[in-house]
Amino acid sequence: MNWDETGSETDEPTGPVLDDRLVDADADGEDTAVEAALRPKDLDEFVGQEKVREQLDLVLKAARARGATADHVLLSGAPGLGKTTLSMIIAAEMNAPIRITSGPAIQHAGDLAAILSSLQEGEVLFLDEIHRMSRPAEEMLYMAMEDFRVDVIVGKGPGATAIPLELPPFTLVGATTRAGLLPPPLRDRFGFTGHMEFYAPAELERVIHRSARLLDVGIDADGAAEIAGRSRGTPRIANRLLRRVRDYAQVKAEGMIDREIAAAALKVYEVDARGLDRLDRAVLGALLKLFGGGPVGLSTLAVAVGEERETVEEVAEPFLVREGLLARTPRGRVATPAAWAHLGLVPPTHGAKGQQGLFGA
Ligand SMILES: Nc1ncnc2c1ncn2[C@@H]1O[C@H](COP(=O)(O)OP(=O)(O)OP(=O)(O)O)[C@@H](O)[C@H]1O
Ligand SMILES: [Mg+2]
Repeated sequence: MNWDETGSETDEPTGPVLDDRLVDADADGEDTAVEAALRPKDLDEFVGQEKVREQLDLVLKAARARGATADHVLLSGAPGLGKTTLSMIIAAEMNAPIRITSGPAIQHAGDLAAILSSLQEGEVLFLDEIHRMSRPAEEMLYMAMEDFRVDVIVGKGPGATAIPLELPPFTLVGATTRAGLLPPPLRDRFGFTGHMEFYAPAELERVIHRSARLLDVGIDADGAAEIAGRSRGTPRIANRLLRRVRDYAQVKAEGMIDREIAAAALKVYEVDARGLDRLDRAVLGALLKLFGGGPVGLSTLAVAVGEERETVEEVAEPFLVREGLLARTPRGRVATPAAWAHLGLVPPTHGAKGQQGLFGA
């Protein structure tokens, strides 16, 4: 019972220390400033995501050949994998203007009506964080997507009338980090859904070489591989680590990045060979050293590292789980053998607690 102590509600915001986390996949201020310069401009320049790229290429080519507006596109995937980038590429490939807005920015159906009614024919409407749109706006969007029409409601109460408004054909590109939160009627109205995957190290190496060229930094193959391995499968993180390594190289090594420089720089920034940062290692370290690998409850683990439960659960754990270093079991958090190996520790031999936790004592 109460194994992960989900009953206790602590809604404390996470501390400011986490805002400048180097391995956070969300964009920070500096990212936003430089990302525009690093964004690939067309499908050929867009690295990886072979399946999405190939399918999208067909959708866009076919639309172009028909002289028609492309079908609505939904892009889903974790932060920093290239959803915004791809939406801009869609507009560029269709030779169409793009209007950018986001779910949270659309509070009322009227906000959406204003945007929709001002679209040009063939324009791409990029709706970021589409899962966070308000309900009434969402319902208006259904009709707009399907029939290129909206009903503008004038007046209130029994006297209210709906005035139909024809819209020019447009392409909606929706992006979401939480595809599961989209209501099925909305999901069904997209002609094409692209699921963005985490990138393979070799793909991230290509991203890094490309960005290094644009930033005018020298880097060799080993240097790029070293950064790629620590980038958590995410181009945004790869670009951010590259910028920090560049700083280090400028100050300490005449600007050229090789494996040694990359590793030394990322040691300074406490990003380890697998992309774990100080917080990740603290969580893993406590689990192994204080609790013999678990199982241990989330609250206990959080207290042990001096962080909020939410921080441990939402900031540190997802990547540890993804990497197969930590498992969430009904009896608590458990370290995997890979976790012991990664921190260079030897698991207790007799009655390994982790095993008991996983399979029941
Ligand atoms: N396939 C790719 N090839 C090269 N660079 C990429 C690729 N995907 C993403 N990037 C780079 O990563 C950065 C982040 O990408 P982008 O902003 O498109 O992510 P996102 O999925 O929209 O993230 P969020 O969910 O936070 O909005 C961009 O600056 C871009 O340069
Ligand atoms: Mg984005």
